Amino acid sequence: MKLPTLVNHPPDVSPPPGNLPVIAPIYQSVKYEFETVDDTLRMLRGETPGYFYMRASNPTTRQLELTLAQLQGRDDCLATASGVNAIAQTLIGLTKQGDHILCFVETYGPTRNIIRRLLARFGVEHTMLSIEDMAGIENVLATRPTRLVIFESPTNPITKVADIERLVELAHRHGALAVMDNTFAGFHQHGEYEVDLFVHSLTKYASGTGDVMGGAVIGRRDLIEGLRADFAVLGALLDPHAAFLVQRGLKTYFVRYRDQTRAAQAVAEHLAAHAAVSKVHYPGLPGHPQAALARKQMREAGTVVSFDLKEGGEAARRFSEGLKLFALTASLGSTESLVMAPQLIGTRDFTAEQARQSGIAAGTVRLSIGLEDLGDLIADIDQALAG
Ligand SMILES: Cc1ncc(COP(=O)(O)O)c(C=O)c1O
Repeated sequence: MKLPTLVNHPPDVSPPPGNLPVIAPIYQSVKYEFETVDDTLRMLRGETPGYFYMRASNPTTRQLELTLAQLQGRDDCLATASGVNAIAQTLIGLTKQGDHILCFVETYGPTRNIIRRLLARFGVEHTMLSIEDMAGIENVLATRPTRLVIFESPTNPITKVADIERLVELAHRHGALAVMDNTFAGFHQHGEYEVDLFVHSLTKYASGTGDVMGGAVIGRRDLIEGLRADFAVLGALLDPHAAFLVQRGLKTYFVRYRDQTRAAQAVAEHLAAHAAVSKVHYPGLPGHPQAALARKQMREAGTVVSFDLKEGGEAARRFSEGLKLFALTASLGSTESLVMAPQLIGTRDFTAEQARQSGIAAGTVRLSIGLEDLGDLIADIDQALAG
C-alpha cells in the first residue's frame, strides 16, 4: 500500500472483542459500508439492523434517541438539529392542506410563527386561544375537525400550568393528536399523560451547559416511524458530535434539575416578599393560580421564575441590565443564570386582546436560575432591584 492509499485507509484500531470503551465513541462517519450489495439492500429495506448514511441515522444520535425515549417513557425518539426544528418538522410531518391546528396565545413564539406563517402558506389553518379558555377549547374541538393540539406547560414566560389530562382527553375525544412541548418541565415529567408526541429543545436542560443545540420528538413507535421518513429527506437529524455532547450533559440532568429547581423556589419566595415586585409567576409558589394542578402534574416546578416589577418596563430594563451574575440573553435551563428583559420577550404578533390573555405585563422579567451559589444569586437580585 502506497502512502496516499494508506492515509485514506488508515490502520484499524477497533478495540478487540470484550474490550469496550466505557463512554461510547462519537461515530463521526457519514458513510457505513457492508461487504455486499445484498447486505446493503437488506439493511435499506429494514430487514436487518445497521446504518448507511448519517443523514438518515447514526449510532451516536441513535444512542441519544433511545435514552430520551426511555426518560420520557415512550417507545421511540427522533433527535433533530434544534428544538424549533423538532417542532417545525413534527407539524409539517403531521399535517396536510386543509388540516386545522389548535394552538395557544401562550405557545412559544417561534411555534406560533411556524403555524401562522409557514404552515399557513401550505393551506394549514389554525385557531389560537388562551390555554386557560377550556370552554373555547372544548367548543373548537367539538365543532371543527382538528388534526392536532399543540401546547406547553408551564408556559413561557408566565408559567401557566395547562390541564394536561383534560386537554389530551378532549383532543382524543374529537380525533385530534395531542402534541406537547415539554421543554420547561423536562423529560422526567408528564410521561404518565396520554400525550401522543412530546417535543423538546435539547439546547436547554438536556445539555445543561448552553454550548450545543438540539431537539427531539418522542412518542409511540408508529408515529415516530411516520415522521422519520420525512425528517430524513428534510435533512434534520442531529449531528453525532452534538448528540455526544447532549448525551454527556444528560449524566447530570437529574441533579441539575433538582438543585436548580430548589434554588428557583427560593428565588421565587424571595421575590414574592420584595416591595418592588407586584407578582411572581412560579408554579411552586402556593399563590400560583394553578398551584394545586402544578402539584398534581409536576414533581419539580422547574427553574424559570418570572415576575412583574411594579414600576414597569423601564425599571425592568434597569433591573435586567443591573444584574451581574445573570446573562441578559435568550434560553433557559443552563447551569449559568439568565435574564430576559420585557423588551426582549416576543409579543409583537399579539392583538391587544391576546396581549391581555398572555399575562405578560410591561414590567415582566424572566429569570432562568442556574447552579451558582444561591446566596450570591439573591444578593445580585437585591442589588439590581435596589439600583
Ligand atoms: C418552550 C420552548 N420550546 C422550544 C424552544 C426552541 O428550542 P431551540 O432553541 O433548541 O430551537 C425553546 C427555546 O427557547 C423553548 O423555550
